Amino acid sequence: MASNPPILKASLIDRKRFQNLKNAFALKYGAPPLFYACAPGRVNLIGEHIDYCGYSVLPMAIEQNILAAVSLNNSGTIQLANTDTLYKDFTVSCSEDIIIDRDNPKWYYYFLCGVKGIQEKFGITHLPGMSCLVDGNIPPSSGLSSSSALVCCAGLLTMKTNQKSLSKVALAELCAKSERYIGTEGGGMDQSISFLAEKGTAKLIEFEPLRATDVQLPKGAVFVISNCCVGMNKAASSHFNIRVVECRIATKMLAHARGLNLSRLLKLAQVQTELKASLEDMLSLVDKVLHPEPYSREEICQVLGLTSEQFSKELLSANTQHVENFKLHQRAKHVYGEAARVLRFKSVCDSGPAESIRLLGDLMNQSHASCRDLYECSCPVLDHLVDICLKSGAVGSRLTGAGWGGCAVSMVPSDKVQSFQQAVREAYYLPDSHRAAVEKQSLFVSKPGGGAAIYLEE
Ligand code: GLA
Repeated sequence: MASNPPILKASLIDRKRFQNLKNAFALKYGAPPLFYACAPGRVNLIGEHIDYCGYSVLPMAIEQNILAAVSLNNSGTIQLANTDTLYKDFTVSCSEDIIIDRDNPKWYYYFLCGVKGIQEKFGITHLPGMSCLVDGNIPPSSGLSSSSALVCCAGLLTMKTNQKSLSKVALAELCAKSERYIGTEGGGMDQSISFLAEKGTAKLIEFEPLRATDVQLPKGAVFVISNCCVGMNKAASSHFNIRVVECRIATKMLAHARGLNLSRLLKLAQVQTELKASLEDMLSLVDKVLHPEPYSREEICQVLGLTSEQFSKELLSANTQHVENFKLHQRAKHVYGEAARVLRFKSVCDSGPAESIRLLGDLMNQSHASCRDLYECSCPVLDHLVDICLKSGAVGSRLTGAGWGGCAVSMVPSDKVQSFQQAVREAYYLPDSHRAAVEKQSLFVSKPGGGAAIYLEE
C-alpha cells in the first residue's frame, strides 16, 4: 500500500532546537508557526553514480535534517528565511512564475524547486502566501544531500499548505524531477531515501517503479561519517553532468554495437534489460565494444551517425556543451561493476554469514577504488582521508554522495569505534586548524534515521 508521510507530534523534535526555531519564527513573522516539516539527509553505503543509470542503490537516512516552520499569510508572497544568517532572506510573488536561476544556485532556489514541483503537479495557478523559516543541521556541500533534503522539505510543506495529498513514493518522484530545475541531472536516490527511510534500517532503493526494501545491517559494526572538509557544490560545476552525459553516450554506443533501437535507450541499465544479459556479461561487452582511450565528439558522431548539432542537442546538457573528450569505457565499467556490488552487499546483509563485516568492508573498498580510478569522482584529499580511516581500524571506507570532496563513510567494528574516532581525529583533523575547528560536526557515528514528516503541536 502506498503510504503518505506521517503526521507526528512536535514534541518528538529535539526540544531545544524546536523552541529556538519556534521563537525565531515568531520574532521574524509576528505569529507562531502553523506546522513544521522535516526531511533528512542521507549517507549512501554503496551504489555511487548509478541511480541515474537505472540501477539500485543502498543508502540510509541520517539523523541530521532540514526542519522548516511554516504558516500561511495574506501577503500574496512566499517569504523564505533561514536560521543560518549565511543564507539570505528571499521573497517571491505568488502571482508570478517561479524562475529557478541555474547559473546562480542560491539556497532558496532548492526550496523553490519543491514548491514548483507541487504547483505543476496539481496545476495550481495561484499559490497561497506562506512564511517559512528553515533550520538545517546537515553539513552543506558534503555529499550528505542537504540540497535534496531542502527540496523534499519544501515539496512536503507546499503539499500541506495547499491541502493536497501524495504518497511518499509520489513525493520522492516529484522532488527528484523538480530538483533538476537547478540544472543537475541527478538520479532519484536522495529524494527517495528522504521520504522512504525508516528508523533502524538501511534501504535498497530500486527504480522504475520506485520501491524501497529494508536492509538489516550486521550487528557488530557501525557506520562513521567523516567530512574531508573540501566542499563540493554539484550545481556550481559541470563534473556531475559530464558523468551523466558520458553514461548516456556509452549507452548509445553499446546499444548501437548490439543493433538495438537507439532512440529509446538513455540509461546503461536499459541496455542490460534489452539484451537480457547479466552484469558480468555487460562488463565483458564493455571491454569488447568500448576502447579505454577517450572518445572525441567526431568519433562518437561517426559511429552513431549523428551530426555535431544533433550530438549537442540530444546528448549533451546545457553545462556540458564545451566538453570535447568522453571516457566511455571507464564510466560504463564503473556503473556495471558498482551495480553488481550493491546486489552483493544486499545479499550478504540478508544471509548474514559469520564473515559479513569483512565481506561488506571489501565491497566498500572496491567501490571507492572504482569511484577513484574509473569514475574519477574522488579527489586527493578525500582519498587521503579514506586511507586514514582504513589505517585507523575501519574494515571498509569509501566516498559517499556525488564526490569530488565531501564525506567518506566507514564501516567500523563496534568495539573499535572510540579508538577509530580518536585515531582519525589525530591524523586528519587536529593537525589542521580549519579542520580542527569543525571536527565535531565532521566526524560522527550515524545510525539509520527516519523519513520526512509533518509535525504539529498538540
Ligand atoms: C548525487 C545525486 C544522486 C546520486 C549521487 C551519486 O547525490 O543527487 O542522485 O547520483 O550524487 O551517487
